[in-house]
Amino acid sequence: MGSSHEIEVLVNGETRTGTAPGRMTLADFLRDELGLTGTHLGCEHGVCGACTVLLDGEPIRSCIMLAAQADGHAVTTIEGAGLPDGGLGIVQEEFCAAHALQCGFCTPGMVLAGQALLERNRRPTTADIDEALSGNICRCTGYVQIREALDRAAGRYRLQDEQTEVGFGARTHD
Ligand code: FES
Ligand code: FES
Repeated sequence: MGSSHEIEVLVNGETRTGTAPGRMTLADFLRDELGLTGTHLGCEHGVCGACTVLLDGEPIRSCIMLAAQADGHAVTTIEGAGLPDGGLGIVQEEFCAAHALQCGFCTPGMVLAGQALLERNRRPTTADIDEALSGNICRCTGYVQIREALDRAAGRYRLQDEQTEVGFGARTHD
């Protein structure tokens, strides 16, 4: 079934190498070759967003991208979305606090799409949030709590930014 490619991908900050058959999707590479099964597969044709991961910081659907196309790029999966010590990240915590998940099938994709939004926009409007999540389908929670989670997370990112600035300011006056 076609040629295979040796690929090297920076996955969640760690260099991972593997052999990917020409037609292997990035989702299958992450799940089957690397064991990162937090990337979910729903429709497998680019509609539901369950397979969303970040490629160089931008959300993409890993079911419609070939693994070989990720060669030399950085990928973040839900396993890499938390803190380095294994704790939950801000967006993950706020999903829990706002009850923004039920079955959780869509959640990895929602969290990563939300994180990508908040990395570039600390004050997203409801319309910004809806646009950022427009490619991610949730069939059981509804979007109100998911919006609320991202709104709360945005507030915490802003607070964190302020504290960092204050910290830097204090150090420059030492
Ligand atoms: S599984 Fe990739 S978009 Fe649905
Ligand atoms: S929490 Fe079930 S699909 Fe979203």
